[in-house]
Amino acid sequence: MSNVEEKLAKSLTAEFLELIPYLPYLLQDLWELGSSPKDIIDMILKHIQVSENTKILDLACGKGAVSVQIAKALGCKIKGIDIIPEFIDFANKKAQEYGVEKLCEFKVGDINKAVMVEKDYDIVILGAVGDVLGTPEETIQILKGIVKNGGYIVVDDAYGNDNSNGSYPTREKWFLFFQKAGVKLLDERFNEDDELESLNDKQQSLIVMRANELKEQHPDKAYLFDSYIKSQQAECEELENEISGVTMLLCAL
Ligand SMILES: C[S@@+](CC[C@H](N)C(=O)[O-])C[C@H]1O[C@@H](n2cnc3c(N)ncnc32)[C@H](O)[C@@H]1O
Repeated sequence: MSNVEEKLAKSLTAEFLELIPYLPYLLQDLWELGSSPKDIIDMILKHIQVSENTKILDLACGKGAVSVQIAKALGCKIKGIDIIPEFIDFANKKAQEYGVEKLCEFKVGDINKAVMVEKDYDIVILGAVGDVLGTPEETIQILKGIVKNGGYIVVDDAYGNDNSNGSYPTREKWFLFFQKAGVKLLDERFNEDDELESLNDKQQSLIVMRANELKEQHPDKAYLFDSYIKSQQAECEELENEISGVTMLLCAL
């Protein structure tokens, strides 16, 4: 059982590694898998001068929702890397559908390896990826190493509160990590409660439908698909009630 697989499962809220092969099926009706392309595009437009030469890296890009919409809105080149081949196929199809296939390069790969070779980007994005690169503190340090001096980092994560049992750092703790890494918070966008709830409900009902189909096809594995529905529901509730989902824009000093 590899650490990469464990963190992959966790990044998509799967409790059991046996669920990994079924994730593309379960998530086939969704494009956005966590972060908000709209918030990210708004923040880039507000704070960063972009041109066709701006180089962007989208780490663990999922099905390319952020990359494709950035390429469409901003006309800059973007490289997306994700470990699930079916997600990368989907991202390539979406790039074609949006007419941005020349701006987008999607690759299957492990971002733990990619971060060792990918350098000198203007902007790096890590959207809703959890602890795949390490602790929040380690993650910020690693992301800083990928961008040029004065480059930008977009992270979609969460601020915990004092009661959220320490699994998410509080906003104050995040600031300590920024200070240590030599980055500055330029902007932050919080998930709007109403929008979040309706998006969660919509996505959850699509996932439940696919999980029920899988239960019919593989009755011996029903417990697996039930567990996925439960963990998805628990994550939605945590985001709605216990922690604050946030997209941060940081500048490397
Ligand atoms: C919650 S999704 C977020 C996807 C995308 N950033 C978005 O916001 O739509 C987490 C993603 O991390 C990817 N992932 C997990 N571990 C990975 C790894 N070691 N290398 C590359 N991708 C990984 C998963 O395949 C999944 O697409």
